[in-house]
Amino acid sequence: MILETLNLMHYNITSVVPEVMPTATVPILLLMCFLFLIWNYEETSSIPGPGFCMGIGPLISHGRFLWMGVGNACNYYNKMYGEFMRVWISGEETLIISKSSSIFHVMKHGQYICRFGSKLGLQCIGMHENGIIFNNNPALWKEIRPFFTKALSGPGLVRMIAICVESTKDHLDRLKDVTAGLGNINVLNFMRQITLDTSNTLFLGIPLDENAIVLKIQNYFDAWQALLLKPDIFFKISWLYKKYEKSAKDLKEAIEVLIEQKRQRLSTVEKLEEHMDFASQLIFAQSRGDLTGENVNQCVLEMMIAAPDTLSVTLFFMLVLIAEHPKVEDDMMKEIQAVIGDRDVQSNDMSNLKVVENFINESMRYQPVVDLVMRKALQDDVIDGYPVKRGTNIILNIGRMHKLEFFPKPNEFSLENFEKNVPSRYFQPFGFGPRGCVGKFIAMVMMKAILVTLLRRYTVQTPKGRGLKNIQKSNDLSMHPNERQPFLEMFFMPRRNIDKCQDD
Ligand code: HEM
Repeated sequence: MILETLNLMHYNITSVVPEVMPTATVPILLLMCFLFLIWNYEETSSIPGPGFCMGIGPLISHGRFLWMGVGNACNYYNKMYGEFMRVWISGEETLIISKSSSIFHVMKHGQYICRFGSKLGLQCIGMHENGIIFNNNPALWKEIRPFFTKALSGPGLVRMIAICVESTKDHLDRLKDVTAGLGNINVLNFMRQITLDTSNTLFLGIPLDENAIVLKIQNYFDAWQALLLKPDIFFKISWLYKKYEKSAKDLKEAIEVLIEQKRQRLSTVEKLEEHMDFASQLIFAQSRGDLTGENVNQCVLEMMIAAPDTLSVTLFFMLVLIAEHPKVEDDMMKEIQAVIGDRDVQSNDMSNLKVVENFINESMRYQPVVDLVMRKALQDDVIDGYPVKRGTNIILNIGRMHKLEFFPKPNEFSLENFEKNVPSRYFQPFGFGPRGCVGKFIAMVMMKAILVTLLRRYTVQTPKGRGLKNIQKSNDLSMHPNERQPFLEMFFMPRRNIDKCQDD
């Protein structure tokens, strides 16, 4: 009877309700039912967070992400509602978590191997169901990941140490080419060039124009950051996203040209086994029909941008921290001299560089480049007593976690934070588990090799009165310094008295 009453197509409304009732009654009843449902919806959610409020809550929370940037919005919400809270992004329930036990649970379990992000945004930059980083098709991602794991571990990882040493030395030899009038150097750009060069040497091996590709990578990253959480309506207005589409296309085309050169080279070389790097493996997988050409291009693109996007910024922050903490620099130099002496750093030195390792860890904790990890729940679950429905988006706020739990001086830069062994659940700059950073081991040796090689030759200084605090950082998808500010410049001074360090 109720259904019939509401079926306005078949019944004349005045024939089923008493004539005294105004015709507005049915819409009012419908509205009341709707409000009742909303009321119930809010009551059943046990996870802290802003109210649904007839859909206004989701609008405000998504608006806040677009307006403040993902990182700032996450910190705002965790501060406001606690370390396990719920908002909405594109109308979808999204948890923001900065509690170590819950973060550990998500990273460890296989039902969280997907990420989330706007499908149209990811399509625009070529990451939708392609490549690895934001490939949200579990079956495809599982096929791709072993190519990355193989290239970033074993013999490749060992070779990378010598490649980093050579590339750093080579770039330092040409330092005057990138030195401006006052002797200042754009260190971030310099680090991007070194990391691009090392990635190219190990994974692709085709000569390229470093400056041009570095610029394209920066623009690609900006597009990725801008489009990842945009609502679908944004993509209805082409002039809004055209600029980002072009940035993505520019880098994709440049990488396609390099891959084509690689194909040509592979078809002419005599000893194929000497050319079996990451790109070759992918090209052969395409020939076997295992991967599409589009996927091969995207995988190479992502391998080429991974280090210039993360490692270079981390190295930049580390150099600024070194300039600000001369005692830490002294301690590192003493260790470098004791472990390595006058030769180049090698693979078996890596585990003996304890002070350098603590410094790298503390830098990533105190001034991270990646402070958020995005995942999606593929099954219903309970995390720390909170029910989590299948399809829920999850943002792991690791940057905040690193300043909330375990460390004795959480808000200071101090190597004391790593004096004691840190249980892995409290420190996860690379994430972990099946979807953790596939480059985490190579990243550590790359940072050690580049840093040690640079510090053995140069000591660094920031412009007077400028330091980490003055550097404006955009805290969106990751913590990148604002490229347009002048404070990214530093001075490199030759280190003549390296032996003196040891005598002191
Ligand atoms: C300081 C340097 C780096 C930091 C802080 C970093 C951090 C991260 C983090 C937090 C993730 C997400 C992990 C998760 O979801 O649990 C990630 C993913 C990833 N990283 Fe790194 N990373 C670094 C360097 C590198 C390097 C050098 C490479 C390769 C050359 C690399 C390749 C990747 C790839 C391919 C993924 C996606 C893995 C997947 O989705 O399966 N990273 N990284």
